[in-house]
Amino acid sequence: MIELKGLSKHYQLSGDTLVKAVDNVNLAIKPGEFMMIVGRSGSGKTTLLSLIGGLTKPTSGTVNIDGVDIWGLNDATQSRFRAETIGFVFQIPSLLPTLSVLDNVKLPTMFSKGHDNVGERALSLLEMVGLPEKAHAYPSQLSVGQQKRVALARSLINEPDVVLADEPTSDLDKATENEIMTLIKKVHDDGPRTMVMVTHNLDLVSYATEVRTMANGVLDEGTRK
Ligand SMILES: Nc1ncnc2c1ncn2[C@@H]1O[C@H](COP(=O)(O)OP(=O)(O)O)[C@@H](O)[C@H]1O
Ligand SMILES: [Mg+2]
Repeated sequence: MIELKGLSKHYQLSGDTLVKAVDNVNLAIKPGEFMMIVGRSGSGKTTLLSLIGGLTKPTSGTVNIDGVDIWGLNDATQSRFRAETIGFVFQIPSLLPTLSVLDNVKLPTMFSKGHDNVGERALSLLEMVGLPEKAHAYPSQLSVGQQKRVALARSLINEPDVVLADEPTSDLDKATENEIMTLIKKVHDDGPRTMVMVTHNLDLVSYATEVRTMANGVLDEGTRK
């Protein structure tokens, strides 16, 4: 269960400008749900995911994941908790260019407790996303869609209960977008994992079990599905 209470991130810019990137968000996400948050560019989606994932510290409010107040943990405990509980799919796949595809998928295990057979599991994740033959290629040798597949595989290497995905289909043609969404749905169903995905693309809401819209840092209350 993910519970956000009074969650805000405000940025004080020079002068008197205050940007309320995320403003007083209250949200409960049940285990196994596929929550999709839809909003235009600049509405606060990326900031909200970073707050949930422990990457950006809130100005106020709490993020509670499976009973743990993640911003109440010290840095080391929080990093460990994050690595073991949450998989991230960033908008820009952010693969390390000097590592092979396989080593990129294995990378998050450096930040968690030892997992057995990491190499084998990384390879089976690459099979799951349809790219086993690219294990020893480098990120620059992959298309954007393929890089997104690798990023999806990487997000699962620590067997997280929760996957956070930031615009996983941006910069893709329609066919590739469908392929990635089918994979994301599979990742959700197979767990079942809790999926929290943000996007500006309203066409994708049918994949979700719950949909919220975000505008100017504020999340709507009701369900749109
Ligand atoms: N580090 C930052 N400093 C100042 N303003 C920021 C920062 N990060 C985001 N913002 C602002 O917060 C708002 C929400 O940004 P973001 O969460 O990236 O929206 P989205 O992902 O929906 O496009 C925007 O107005 C953006 O300019
Ligand atoms: Mg964004």
